[in-house]
Amino acid sequence: MCGIVAYVGPKKASEILLKGIKTLEYRGYDSVGIATLAGNIISVKKDIGKVDEANATLNFLALEGNIGIAHTRWSTHGGVTKENAHPHLDCSGKIAVVHNGIVDNHQQIRAGLGSHRFLSQTDTEVIPHLIEELMSKEGLDFVAAVRKAANTLNGRSAFVAISSETRQMAAARKGTPLIIGLHETSNEEFFIASDVTAFLDYTNKVMYLDDNEMAVVDVKIDGKIAFSSLTSGNELKKRVVDIHWHVGSTEKEGYDHFLIKEVMEQKHTIAAAINQDDTKILAVANDIKSAFGTFFVGCGTAGKTCMVAEYLFSKIARKHINSVVASEFSNYKHYLTPKTLMIAVSQSGETADVLEAIDVAKSKSVRVVSLLNVFGSTMMRASDDFFMVNAGAERAVVSTKATTAQIAVLTLLAYATAGKLQEGKLLLMNAASAVNDMLNPRYEEHISKLAFLLLNKKDIFIIGRGINYPIALEAAIKLQETCYTHAQGFAAGELKHGPLALIDEGTPCIAIVANDETKQDMINNATEVKARGGYIIGIAPENNEVFDYWLKVPDVGDASPIVNIIPVQILAYHIAVMRGYNPDYPRNLAKSVTVK
Ligand code: G6P
Repeated sequence: MCGIVAYVGPKKASEILLKGIKTLEYRGYDSVGIATLAGNIISVKKDIGKVDEANATLNFLALEGNIGIAHTRWSTHGGVTKENAHPHLDCSGKIAVVHNGIVDNHQQIRAGLGSHRFLSQTDTEVIPHLIEELMSKEGLDFVAAVRKAANTLNGRSAFVAISSETRQMAAARKGTPLIIGLHETSNEEFFIASDVTAFLDYTNKVMYLDDNEMAVVDVKIDGKIAFSSLTSGNELKKRVVDIHWHVGSTEKEGYDHFLIKEVMEQKHTIAAAINQDDTKILAVANDIKSAFGTFFVGCGTAGKTCMVAEYLFSKIARKHINSVVASEFSNYKHYLTPKTLMIAVSQSGETADVLEAIDVAKSKSVRVVSLLNVFGSTMMRASDDFFMVNAGAERAVVSTKATTAQIAVLTLLAYATAGKLQEGKLLLMNAASAVNDMLNPRYEEHISKLAFLLLNKKDIFIIGRGINYPIALEAAIKLQETCYTHAQGFAAGELKHGPLALIDEGTPCIAIVANDETKQDMINNATEVKARGGYIIGIAPENNEVFDYWLKVPDVGDASPIVNIIPVQILAYHIAVMRGYNPDYPRNLAKSVTVK
């Protein structure tokens, strides 16, 4: 979590940094800060709150200078305070640092810097002080001190430091992303960011910093950039890559929130998701068929789409695959062999737990194929092959269009594995067009009436079976994230083994009733809940007398997980707005979870 943007070039740095950091706000929004270098003075402005809130009082654009660093924070060490906001300075104010990740050994480092004056509770603040210490006590120059400091840090992280004395900028990567943007023609303009979207408006030319590497931009010698290994110090040659990625709009485009805009974009994103290269789909389907064990791995919502895949592969391809939450994957390492296949699913391609799972897989020579939504992400580069799910930039922390796009690609893979790729495509094209019809203002209004009815409910239960059991779990995530409601998903058959005791008069229970072999059992389970006073909200293609409120969805066969999650996305949005919460920025969460 946390977003970093840095700039060196002819333009006013604060303008570029302000725009860039706003784009990266999805990575954390506890506090924001910018430091620029004008003459030989570093000036810092920082405060708690989102970018616009902090900017309204601080006026970041008042910062002069053509060199600067910026940061948006998701707190790990130290509360949400102005002091803990980045950038952090050394004692002399000549070195400023922004950082993403965790310095696991910050306490030991801080203990060794006894004479330094610390102003925050963050792990990050040890970095500028350590650089300062290494320069003063060991006589290292700025670059050597940054290298040594980076090598001293334990844990996954990345940071960018500027020095007012040497007018250099140094970036070091040890586990979290940093990408360099270069001006199309001149070699005097450089961008550094956690994610390319922070500078794609200015350039498509990028260079990727890999783990244990550093980059130094030296303003004194005409903005020259040099790459080197953190460990050996040897110079590295880097390839310039042209990014041709249509990110899609990153603006709200007239909607009040990104969340509802992205829900509505599902009118088009399902069709975009299934627009895949057949040869590649068939090749990965073959990999799955011949693998000795396939693991689908993801976190949060992506973890739930992996679970959907497990059911889809059983139902459609008669193939046993395993879905595993990424943070648990290492516990399966004893089963991994070079014949194992891993399919890693991630919207951002930067989630720390998934990256660690990939490391574990790679250590056992497992082939890794990723399903991603962000081009150029760390996972893309760490995988043997990848699919883009083509959902376009997803800005709301709560995943919606990327989720249904992932499910669409996973469904396609299941059909391809069954030798029925064309059938799968037709099914999904039909689902895409059904979603297009479904997402109209009347539908949203009908769901907003239900949101009003549920406004003061403290608990919401969701039940599903088969391919829609993981959708019940995903629906619970949507309601938890946006409305801060206790929402829990269950396999409907498990109700009688405990959760039924929680149902009393008026408890809302959403029953996802697909028109498949699970339908009758689902109706029976909903009836049991109703008999105990439960208020039944049915998500189904057809109404049923057991439903107190019916959310109609199109009958799209085995693509039902795609259409069944959409009404809950809309419901969660409306409850959140009615409760006065900002659905784009759920408290305590961030979109890109780059710490374990
Ligand atoms: C965070 C986000 C979720 C997302 C999860 C995994 O928790 O808030 O929306 O599902 O991370 O992220 P990924 O980028 O790997 O899909």
